[in-house]
Amino acid sequence: MIPISIPLLGDEEKQAVLEVLDTGQLVQGARVAAFEEAFASFCGVRHGVATSSGTSALQAAVLAQGIGPGDEVITSPFTFIASANAVLFAGAKPVFVDIDERTYNLDANLTEAAITPRTRAILPIHLFGHPCDMAAIMDIAARHGLAVIEDACQAHGATVNARKVGSFGVGCFSFYATKNCTTAEGGLITTDDDELADRARLIRNHGQRQRYYHEAIGYNFRMTELQAAIGLVQLGKLERFTAARRANAEYLSQRLEGVIVPHEAPGCRHVYHQYTIRVPHGRDELATHLRERGIATGVYYPLPVHKQVAYQRLGYTDHLPVAEKVCREVLSLPVHPALTHEDLDNIVKGVNTGWS
Ligand SMILES: Cc1ncc(COP(=O)(O)O)c(C=O)c1O
Repeated sequence: MIPISIPLLGDEEKQAVLEVLDTGQLVQGARVAAFEEAFASFCGVRHGVATSSGTSALQAAVLAQGIGPGDEVITSPFTFIASANAVLFAGAKPVFVDIDERTYNLDANLTEAAITPRTRAILPIHLFGHPCDMAAIMDIAARHGLAVIEDACQAHGATVNARKVGSFGVGCFSFYATKNCTTAEGGLITTDDDELADRARLIRNHGQRQRYYHEAIGYNFRMTELQAAIGLVQLGKLERFTAARRANAEYLSQRLEGVIVPHEAPGCRHVYHQYTIRVPHGRDELATHLRERGIATGVYYPLPVHKQVAYQRLGYTDHLPVAEKVCREVLSLPVHPALTHEDLDNIVKGVNTGWS
């Protein structure tokens, strides 16, 4: 079976982990600091704050902005649930705005109308590795005095006019096992704002600057040295991985027939965390057909966040037609760097023949 995604770890990562085990320092030491510096520099910002996951990075970023009960944060419903949950965890309310049908990201044209006196921030998600319309979002945020928290969990190295995502607002990245760059589990906040970085560092480590002196209420969102050691090696490979993902995506897009292939907006660099096509009729039949031919696929995501039972229980009754339609039509195909030419040709043949 050609897997939909796969962690790409080699001997260097294994060696790096073994070296940590010999040091006796397992959590938040020199390797975490080096990883923070390296990833911040990769994104073109001054600070990196490593965390235990993308979810905790988002949660710490929302809290570090001082967002809390009574506040609203505008975000997309077409995402992994963690994006919106980060707002709920702070006691604030996620307000969902529909998406752009081509990029699958927050529709900047609908965003301004959703602003109320309670709105504190916009939380755009660079879904599947395609950057959001950051020029429009930063403009709206500046005019209304709102913070911008970028969910870049799927978009390591994606750019808008050569500027990396995670450098526009406060960036939140995930290094989960199948992400473009992994530490098994892990996350990181990127920012140029000294005070915000300081608050995020306090939140991630029980509000303590000095051990057992707590100046804020925080969490244990720390990254281990083992994770950071893997991350440092992976970061060195990321550009090569991204080039392979982009080449695989281009190969597929030039050959697939009868489906809607991913869009890359002008000036944007898509990093293809997922290669997501749309199948207006027969998505599930195509997925079955591909599985029978040894090709795994994924539906990211079958239900938008506002339609999840957990959110219905909170009283969400929104109707967001584009997100709801897209959830019925999307299918992600393998695009990861481990694909061979034979794999790619099998995917093309599988999609182009025998199911519709
Ligand atoms: C868009 C998005 N946001 C947030 C997260 C949460 O990241 P993590 O799984 O590292 O907690 C993920 C990862 O699955 C994600 O894809």
